[in-house]
Amino acid sequence: MNTAKMQLAPKTTVAASHAVAAAEQFGTPLYVYDETCIVRHCRNVMDMPNAFGLAPRYAMKANSSRAILQLVASQGLGIDASSLNEARRAIAAGIAPERIMLTTQEVPMAQNRTDLEEMMRGGLRYNVCSRRQLELIADFAASEDIAISMRIHPGVGSGESATRNTGDKYSCFGVHLSILEDVLAYAGQKGVKCTGVHVHIGSGGDPEAWRANIDCELEFVENFFPDATHVSFGGGFKVARMPGEKAADIEELGCYAKKRFEEFYARTGRKLAMEVEPGTYIVANAGFLVTRVLDLKSTGRDGFEFVIVDGGMEVNTRPLLYGSSHPFYVVSATGSLLSSEFDPMLEETAAGERIIVGRCCESGDSQSLDEHGHIVPRFLAAPAVGDYVIVGGCGAYCSAMSPFNYNSHIQVPEVLLREGGSLQLIRRPQLIDQIWQNELGL
Ligand code: LLP
Repeated sequence: MNTAKMQLAPKTTVAASHAVAAAEQFGTPLYVYDETCIVRHCRNVMDMPNAFGLAPRYAMKANSSRAILQLVASQGLGIDASSLNEARRAIAAGIAPERIMLTTQEVPMAQNRTDLEEMMRGGLRYNVCSRRQLELIADFAASEDIAISMRIHPGVGSGESATRNTGDKYSCFGVHLSILEDVLAYAGQKGVKCTGVHVHIGSGGDPEAWRANIDCELEFVENFFPDATHVSFGGGFKVARMPGEKAADIEELGCYAKKRFEEFYARTGRKLAMEVEPGTYIVANAGFLVTRVLDLKSTGRDGFEFVIVDGGMEVNTRPLLYGSSHPFYVVSATGSLLSSEFDPMLEETAAGERIIVGRCCESGDSQSLDEHGHIVPRFLAAPAVGDYVIVGGCGAYCSAMSPFNYNSHIQVPEVLLREGGSLQLIRRPQLIDQIWQNELGL
């Protein structure tokens, strides 16, 4: 068992020894990201089969840390921003506006409107998501001769949970098909050109539904968008965080899209470029959350063995929010891998059912819950106080979505394991007085 150098999960270079070295240097809890893995995922996306060009964008909402944005951009991906602030953040990280597309529920007004126009002059693509957004930008876009893109609500979607399906009638992203012709007529009257068509059906849903959306969207282009040159299928590639989970095959999806684009060309004489905007796929499995065991408790003979660690819902809120599963690794204080859900052979005789909880005052503060909020025990080695519990699949929507100051815990550090093997701090831990620095007393 327990080779200290052994990588934690398949296809990453992060080993138990890296996690422990990072913890010793920067303290726990902390996130460790694997540069090698992120670069490989970027390349896989850049290499997706396509017919007439491919422009992938990274959905920065998944992980918007400056170094991550810079790393992904250095691999040739553009940026999908979901708010004006995200666009500002990407620009602040050194990414040119022309590499950014803004797809937002916001309706930019006042200063936001001025800034949006400035960014559009600089090349940012605005993916209009409602009639109101179009009405507000139409005169500007027409007078500056800036083409827009349009997000369509297709009426069907697919997501890992109902809360991540963005295409059915319970969500309102994009211009609904039922008003599309009307909205396009308005754009036509105003002299606004629509060169991009976009649909994002949801996150982590059925790859079959993703495939079906390719057909659907090409039909929209053929029927309604004579000026379209780019078609975006959004993000949402399903990844496998847990052993046994099945991921979407992005090469296969690319092949399917390629074939459809070629048929479209044969039928219409129009060559369309393909766009995709993955967030999860790029970073999810490249991230680990390293926590330390603070305490061990039991709820008696009919109860459970609890392991209390120093990072729970405030550093990975996905299990509490969605019932999402993340793999656990137990690592000794000296860096030996004691158990891994990817490698049952590692499990020792002391392995048993345990419940991992954080230190927030909430019974749901765990990283193992089902979709109803019930805590799910897991089969793990018995850690001692001072050992580590490492949580995999934490590169996407963990740091970015963390309610980090809950219970007045700090926002925790982020570290990048560089391709050469060094550990680089990419976010400093928040200082305690930064928690209350904007508060005004009586
Ligand atoms: N494009 C658009 C317009 C989106 O709304 C999203 C995600 C993406 C791309 C990227 O999707 P991805 O490749 O990451 O699935 N917090 C949830 C995911 C919500 C994503 C919302 N939109 C989670 O932790 O699973």
